[in-house]
Amino acid sequence: MNIIELSGVSRVFGQGENRVEALLDINLEIRRGDFVAVVGQSGSGKTTLMNTIGCLDPPSGGSCRIDGIETGGLSPRSLARVRGRKVGFVFQRYNLLPALTAMDNVALPAVYAGLSQRARTERAKGLLIRLGLGDKLGSLPHELSGGQQQRVSIARALMNGGDIILADEPTGALDSQSGLLVMGILQGLHREGHTIILVTHDPALAAHAHRAIELRDGRIIGDDRRIPPGGGKGHRNQVEDHVRPLVFYRDQLLEALKMAVQAIMSHKLRSLLTMLGIIIGIASVVAVVALGRGSQEQIMSSISAMGTNTITVYPGSGFGDRNRGRIRTLTVSDSDLLARQSYLDSSTPVTSTSGMLVYGNQSLTASLTGAGEQFFEARGLRMALGRPFTEDDVREVASVVVIDPNTRDKLFPGGDDPLGQTVLFRRQPLLVIGVTSPQNALFGPTDQLSLWSPYTTVMSKITGERYISSIVVRVNDLVSSQVAEKNLTDLLRVKHDGRTDFYTQNTDSIKQTIESTSRTMTLLISSIALISLVVGGIGVMNIMLVSVTERTREIGTRMAIGAKPFNIMEQFLIEAVLLCLIGGLAGIMLSGAVGIAFNRLSSDFIMSFSTASFVLALCCSSFIGIAFGFMPARSASRLNPIEALSYE
Ligand SMILES: Nc1ncnc2c1ncn2[C@@H]1O[C@H](COP(=O)(O)OP(=O)(O)O)[C@@H](O)[C@H]1O
Ligand SMILES: [Mg+2]
Repeated sequence: MNIIELSGVSRVFGQGENRVEALLDINLEIRRGDFVAVVGQSGSGKTTLMNTIGCLDPPSGGSCRIDGIETGGLSPRSLARVRGRKVGFVFQRYNLLPALTAMDNVALPAVYAGLSQRARTERAKGLLIRLGLGDKLGSLPHELSGGQQQRVSIARALMNGGDIILADEPTGALDSQSGLLVMGILQGLHREGHTIILVTHDPALAAHAHRAIELRDGRIIGDDRRIPPGGGKGHRNQVEDHVRPLVFYRDQLLEALKMAVQAIMSHKLRSLLTMLGIIIGIASVVAVVALGRGSQEQIMSSISAMGTNTITVYPGSGFGDRNRGRIRTLTVSDSDLLARQSYLDSSTPVTSTSGMLVYGNQSLTASLTGAGEQFFEARGLRMALGRPFTEDDVREVASVVVIDPNTRDKLFPGGDDPLGQTVLFRRQPLLVIGVTSPQNALFGPTDQLSLWSPYTTVMSKITGERYISSIVVRVNDLVSSQVAEKNLTDLLRVKHDGRTDFYTQNTDSIKQTIESTSRTMTLLISSIALISLVVGGIGVMNIMLVSVTERTREIGTRMAIGAKPFNIMEQFLIEAVLLCLIGGLAGIMLSGAVGIAFNRLSSDFIMSFSTASFVLALCCSSFIGIAFGFMPARSASRLNPIEALSYE
């Protein structure tokens, strides 16, 4: 039974002037268990023939059957499968992966073939012991001599069975002693039934083989059989694998992860510099979002202190109305009308004025707000001392006043009790009945002096004014403030004979405006920070391209031992994602450190971090890893195995 059948195989490289016919009309049949030497001058096509038989390089023409499988027209993936199962390569320069131990190097083909972890280690260990390397299992290639490395690579070729062993000048780089040892091993394998094809230019070595094929300029010019075919036992050596799909992908993923960690660790400084872009980008995005959240929380708490769900009606046509101060359209009866509406909890007229406030020998300018008793609740004003004025005070036009902490500090320094004292506002005596708590000021603390009295008192005893400056309405909790605002507007318009000589302002909409403004700001600054993330991503892409180029030979080796394009892609993608993820984590920690420092120093508001932003940052960095690692990873996976292998 022929394990290899080539008929009319040709392989042409290049085009036009560079056209090289490396193989021409090769017809060759090799029986299972044969030991074939391929000889010929340099450039005669020996390596090309090996690559064709080894499914590394499909022929340009003709038919190539390996163990009954026609390899022409197979996809790179299927070629990798055939290669991984049937063929073991032994290279002149060993081509061991420098970062892996002897054991891991030997076991690698089985990772790609899907053997379980236990079976893998057992078999790799057995093979190494058999080849006399039992004490070198954990050694790295550079710790081994050339002969030892070549024995490791033979063990690797046998890992998946090695039905066909393709050895391209396996002793070319060895001293004669090690060379003999390696030849001895190959002969032993032949006796066990492996089909061995050995490329050599040394006639003495070729003499060990049972058949010598001579190539010149891509053609077979001699085929010399010394022992009749059928000399070898020719049984199958293929390892029976029990592939469990999940384990298969998990092991390949773990392997890729391990390689990625090794690749990153072997270039620590370079990896760190590459991550820097991601670190800075992620740190700034996370910090900006935290700042935005912190300031928004601050503003929101100020607003909710102002009382929720209130609508204020002002005279005039809107904000920025120049005549606002002079417009007189709102009256107490408007407020009374609103107070009777079921969708409103309360309505209070507000009138404000300013004037001289006198107490003892002090006189100060203060502003006095006249309002109904509901005003305190609607505006979220709390009392630190005494009481607010009541419905009775309003009805009876009581000469009472509530003062703010500023006024108390000015008029009653040294902690005198202001309650029960009488102050003069525009020469009108007012009895102090309460002091408000300091307000959570929205736009920073002011030193304005504010007083509150019943609107009846202010209008009849102080200003003599018939019109009011605004109406503050509390919306029923069960009604949406938009609906209430609309109804109220319609109602007042009817009362004002169809004129809209007033406008409303709704704390809900202020809240929404602030929310959306701060969201917009956060988004804006974040997107600027995102630019640095993109720059970081480009850095990652750059370094991945370098990494792919540096490891071209390694990629070729992996492909030769059965890695599918997907495996190569996965490995580099994981490396890129890992780089970005570590960068993202470092960025989050950096922003956390900045946040702690900031919160120590700032008293106005704090940076407020959320788990969601951390998770988002990690997702974002993974995404950048995938996005920017994809191109290098794909170009790695699309490398031509033979070009990658011969890359210097
Ligand atoms: N990837 C390639 N691209 C272009 N030419 C190639 C390539 N590989 C081999 N060749 C050419 O094909 C011919 C045979 O090469 P090769 O099989 O490596 O010879 P040998 O192994 O016998 O020294 C040479 O002339 C070589 O230059
Ligand atoms: Mg060669």
